[in-house]
Amino acid sequence: MKNNSQNFFDMFNANDDLKINALLSANINFNCIQLAVKYDLFTHLEDGINELNSLAKKNDFIPSRLYRLLKCLENINLIKETSDKNFYLTRMGERFLPNKKGNYANLTNLWSTEFYKAAENIDKALRSEKSAFECTHNESLYSYFNKYPERATTFNLAMRDLSENLNKNALYEMDLSTVKSIADVGGGSGASIRNMITQNAHLHGILFDQKSVIDSAMKEMEDFQYKNRVELISGDFFKPLPFKVDCIVLSNIIHNWNDEKAVQILTNCRKALNESGKIYLIEAALESSIEPLLARTMDFAMLLLTEGKERTFSEFEKLFHLANLKFESAKNVLNMTCLIEVKEK
Ligand SMILES: C[S@@+](CC[C@H](N)C(=O)[O-])C[C@H]1O[C@@H](n2cnc3c(N)ncnc32)[C@H](O)[C@@H]1O
Repeated sequence: MKNNSQNFFDMFNANDDLKINALLSANINFNCIQLAVKYDLFTHLEDGINELNSLAKKNDFIPSRLYRLLKCLENINLIKETSDKNFYLTRMGERFLPNKKGNYANLTNLWSTEFYKAAENIDKALRSEKSAFECTHNESLYSYFNKYPERATTFNLAMRDLSENLNKNALYEMDLSTVKSIADVGGGSGASIRNMITQNAHLHGILFDQKSVIDSAMKEMEDFQYKNRVELISGDFFKPLPFKVDCIVLSNIIHNWNDEKAVQILTNCRKALNESGKIYLIEAALESSIEPLLARTMDFAMLLLTEGKERTFSEFEKLFHLANLKFESAKNVLNMTCLIEVKEK
């Protein structure tokens, strides 16, 4: 017969086994989400197709098999069976509706396609200076998306929604009271600059990004109420920036690049500042963010996808020093986001 302490250890081991199996099955959960996005299951539920047989008919699935997928999605809180074989979206499930602000449908798509393929070569990235993405697709992330505009749209929307979900709060923490002109460098679809312009009636903004990104951002900007206060400029942040402003925002930019290129971007930004101007970085700082686990995961995602990395404060300070900038302040915002302010030395 087992004594009390053996029972105690069995309980601990059982708990570890549950945790380990949850870790190992994360991929299966992802496969379920991926299928649901690919076959528009979330959208069908939103559109009122809630009954199993009707859902199955939509994609020619066998109802009893689809049921098992749906129960798995219920298990991870994305949908709920409210009456016999009738399913509804939960609040979290709604976050996968492709037309909703801050949705995760485009990111799911990338993790099912280009990013997923890249992950197969992660060992190559551990043996070289290249990202797994480059080892797989023979091009860096941004030159790949420049080549495939349709995929670039998915990437840009995924980045917009990720920022919307993880970084938006950082925008409210910025002190823009004395700033008259601001540029969002590598600002993507323009969601952040629109937010800043809306919140600050005195502000004029510039959205700066690669030509292909600016071309598609123009369409989104057309319906913006304050579009007369925003200028869209395309170019390359590795070259001198074609404007002067009081403040520059670099949101999720520096973590895409190695130290040398990061210093180049920071230097070009410093040179584009008016006197006593400032730069705000929005990044996941390692060892300081409120969600350190997510920041670590993000760091590994950078290894997978880019030549960059997430950095600690002391790593950031080295870059600032080399770019002739000085650290002013840093603030942890919600999730893993950190808002860092720097000025010219
Ligand atoms: C990770 S996304 C971040 C987008 C946005 N700032 C955000 O937080 O969602 C990086 C952005 O940098 C832009 N970018 C990459 N290389 C660039 C370059 N050489 N010059 C200007 N922009 C560039 C990309 O097009 C993309 O919009």
